[in-house]
Amino acid sequence: MIYNVALIGYGYWGPKLARNIHNSSIFNLKFIVDSSQKNLNKAKSEFPLSILLKNYHKIKNDSVDLVVISTPTKTHFFLANYFLKFSNVLIEKPLSLNLKDAIALEKMAKKNKKMLFVDYPFIFSGSINYIKKIIQSKKYGKLNQIETFREQAPIRTDADVVWDLGVHDISIFKYLLKSNPKKITSLKYNTIKTIKKDTAYINLHYGNNLKIFIKNSWISPIKIRLIKFKFDNAILFCDENEPIYKLKIYTISKNNKNNYKLEIPGIDLSEPLSNLIAYIGKCLKKKQNPIFKNNLNVEITKILEKI
Ligand SMILES: NC(=O)c1ccc[n+]([C@@H]2O[C@H](COP(=O)([O-])OP(=O)(O)OC[C@H]3O[C@@H](n4cnc5c(N)ncnc54)[C@H](O)[C@@H]3O)[C@@H](O)[C@H]2O)c1
Repeated sequence: MIYNVALIGYGYWGPKLARNIHNSSIFNLKFIVDSSQKNLNKAKSEFPLSILLKNYHKIKNDSVDLVVISTPTKTHFFLANYFLKFSNVLIEKPLSLNLKDAIALEKMAKKNKKMLFVDYPFIFSGSINYIKKIIQSKKYGKLNQIETFREQAPIRTDADVVWDLGVHDISIFKYLLKSNPKKITSLKYNTIKTIKKDTAYINLHYGNNLKIFIKNSWISPIKIRLIKFKFDNAILFCDENEPIYKLKIYTISKNNKNNYKLEIPGIDLSEPLSNLIAYIGKCLKKKQNPIFKNNLNVEITKILEKI
């Protein structure tokens, strides 16, 4: 079975979704919609076989199996609410601008027996899934601390840096740890004249004495996507900017706790977005959505709102 897709929004992120949908053998990129003629022209030159529309109302309820929404966050609730009445929906992160809307969208999906996926790309990455296995197996002992640095990204005007970048960290921790933080403290700043807060320092305290520090900032001369996981017997660096050696494991010497040996594990390097698209294909076929069950989207949004 081939599933028909409508992609709404062909700005910065939309073309990456389009390429991965187009490259998948289970999906047909039937429609590309963008209210900007310039971006529609770009879509036409890159995907000449897709039907190009300026207005999403032209998509009829029997013509698509999946609607992919990659428009600015302030439009997410309205668009997802519209399409969930007749289609499964993949929506860009963050799902919404507040918890109330996230809950309403989940309710809408349930009511209409549709699946709602959110693009949290890192939970579909080989590196994060490798780390998940290490945490579960306790290969390096207990996990005690995590520090994450996510810096440099386009400045948004509808969502602050926590909802825009911090959502990646929160989705990763929700996926890896299952549990929720017991205590949250945060400082948020405007380091330059942005409409929304552009920099955040966040501390999350989990049970079992696990402490997490998150730094998010749009404002940085270099792009940083680094997470450090500190276990009893190893410190693991996960650098999503590295093309191949994304994971570096520094095992700690038993005799000298500040003496390390480097190991570089082989990991699955396939593009997270292509893994996400393949996952959605399987979910549509099996009518099951294991990763997003147990209210993953609402749980993530709850933490964002608390921060
Ligand atoms: N998953 C990720 O890692 C990741 C990365 C970047 C952006 N994003 C998310 O993707 C979304 C889009 O971000 P972007 O950077 O591509 O934004 P963008 O402004 O570059 O593109 C948005 C596009 O949507 C179009 N659009 C807006 N309203 C529309 C409507 N009602 N109908 C049709 N088209 C409409 C605009 O014309 C524009 O082409 C945001 O929610 C952002 O947070 C996710």
